[in-house]
Amino acid sequence: MPSWQLHRGDALTVLPALTDPVDAVICDPPYNSGGRTMHERTSRTAREKYLTEGGRNHGFDLGDFTGENRDQRSYTAWLSLILAHAYRLTRPGGAALVFTDWRQLPATTDALQAAGYTWRGVAVWHKPIARPQPGRLRQECEFIVWGSNGAMVPGNQPVYLPGHFTGSQPRGNARVHITQKPLDVMQQLVRIVPEPGLVLDPFAGSGTTGTAALLEGRSFIGIEQSATYWRVARDRFIELVAA
Ligand SMILES: C[S@@+](CC[C@H](N)C(=O)[O-])C[C@H]1O[C@@H](n2cnc3c(N)ncnc32)[C@H](O)[C@@H]1O
Repeated sequence: MPSWQLHRGDALTVLPALTDPVDAVICDPPYNSGGRTMHERTSRTAREKYLTEGGRNHGFDLGDFTGENRDQRSYTAWLSLILAHAYRLTRPGGAALVFTDWRQLPATTDALQAAGYTWRGVAVWHKPIARPQPGRLRQECEFIVWGSNGAMVPGNQPVYLPGHFTGSQPRGNARVHITQKPLDVMQQLVRIVPEPGLVLDPFAGSGTTGTAALLEGRSFIGIEQSATYWRVARDRFIELVAA
């Protein structure tokens, strides 16, 4: 029976205290994207940045979150620190999958490698409902930078995962986080861990990675800084396990 743990706090404080080896780190950090100047970085909260409807979604108050106002260099340094702690916990041959957008793709590939992982590629998350932009290419993809702790040895029953995933951010009542990932995409990604493995997500948000892991028979350790989202994720896991 897969199990789950959800820590509340800053990943940089919680990760050094963890000791269980994990089979994969699958995470969706705050991207810190788009803030070229001090003004741009400090004038909008995450909620104002990602939502046009003022933070409410069908009556559900989507919580804000912090950690979205680093400049480019400090984002690389900070993410390297986080991933270095994650690397210490990743078993040899285990994987790291880190979401990012086009602006932070170079920073994220640098941070993954600075942390110690062997960089193995970039997969694509295609978002079919992205906004068209007049005269420009549509920004309809985000990316999953991935690597491993050293050599990856396929098991007796290797999985064959795609490098391209399509899925829209949940809408309506299903949307409980500003930057929520599609459950179906996360369910495919957690299959990189052989059953019954252990997945770590230091930026759990509303618990999509954890929900996907539990649904796919993997165990989960999460960390979330926001009290609002920690409760959302915890309630999702409790409901899932009780069902
Ligand atoms: C991009 S969201 C993750 C969303 C998640 N994938 C989902 O589907 O719900 C990033 C999350 O990281 C949390 N966060 C930001 N800084 C953090 C930190 N230093 N330690 C732990 N969590 C943090 C935010 O509160 C936010 O919920």
